[in-house]
Amino acid sequence: MKAHIVLAHPESKSFNGQLAKATRSTLQTAGWEVTLSDLYTDGFDPLEGPGHYQTRADSERFHAQTEQRFHADNDSTPQDVVAEKSKLLQADLLVVHFPLWWFGMPAMLKGWIDRVFVYGAVYRGQMRYDTGICRDKKMLACITTGASEASCSFNGREGDSRLHAWPLLFPFRYIGFDVLEPVFFHGVGGVASIEADEDGLTGTDLFMQQWVEVLTDLDDRGSTPYNTDDDFDENKQLNPGAPVFGPFISHRANTPWD
Ligand SMILES: Cc1cc2nc3c(=O)[nH]c(=O)nc-3n(C[C@H](O)[C@H](O)[C@H](O)COP(=O)(O)O)c2cc1C
Repeated sequence: MKAHIVLAHPESKSFNGQLAKATRSTLQTAGWEVTLSDLYTDGFDPLEGPGHYQTRADSERFHAQTEQRFHADNDSTPQDVVAEKSKLLQADLLVVHFPLWWFGMPAMLKGWIDRVFVYGAVYRGQMRYDTGICRDKKMLACITTGASEASCSFNGREGDSRLHAWPLLFPFRYIGFDVLEPVFFHGVGGVASIEADEDGLTGTDLFMQQWVEVLTDLDDRGSTPYNTDDDFDENKQLNPGAPVFGPFISHRANTPWD
C-alpha cells in the first residue's frame, strides 16, 4: 500500500514539519510505502500561468483549463506537475499537512491543487465526484490553528474550523477521494505549545501522540459525508428528500441574512 504526504509549511522544524515526519515514520513502520512532497523545500511553483507552457493551445489568451487539457492530451504537461500527479495518483492514502492561514490553506497548497489537479487528466466532466479518478482512495488532512479550540468551535469568535475546512477539502472530494474526517490541532504556536500540562508534556507533545494514534487507527476514522451523484437532478440541484450533510448543500438557503 502506498501513502503520499503533502506538507505545506515554509519551515521543516515547525510543528507541521514535525507532524509530517511522524506521519512518514508511523506509516513506514506500519508497512506503507511512503512518498513526501515538502512543497516549500522542493521549491514547487504554485503559480499556474503561461510561463509553464512553451507551446500553447491558444497563444493569444491564456486560459488555464484549455492549456491543462491540451497538454494532458498531448502528453506535454509540465514535468513538475507530472511528478506530483504521479505521486498523487499512485497513492492509496494521501495525507496533507497545513496550518490554517487566514481561514484557508497556505497559497502554496492552493497553488499545488490549481496545477496538479490537471483538467483533462485528473478531472473532467465525466470523471469527478463519485466517478473521480481517486475513488477508492482515502485522504486525511491534518490542520493546525493558532487560535484555541474554544475560539475555533461552533460558537467561537474565529468561526467554526470544521466549516472553514469544508470548502478547503472539497477539491479532494471533487476528484473522488474518500475524505476522512480532518484532524485539527488548535492553539499551536500559542500557549498550548509553550505551557506544560499536568503530565509535564507540552500541548504539542500531546497532539503528536494523538496524531500517531489517528494514523495507527486509520481504519476507525470516519469519512466526511457528501451527497452522492444520484442525490442531484439534471440541473445539478439537490433532489427533494436527498440527505443534507451541512450548510453548503441544502434544501433551502441558510444564510442568516436571507
Ligand atoms: C499568514 C498567517 C495566517 C494565519 N491565519 C490564522 C488563522 O486564520 N487562524 C488561526 O487560528 N491561526 C492562524 N495563523 C496561525 C497559524 O495557524 C499557526 O501559527 C500554525 O497553525 C502553527 O503551526 P506551525 O507551528 O507548524 O506553524 C496564521 C499564521 C500565519 C503566518
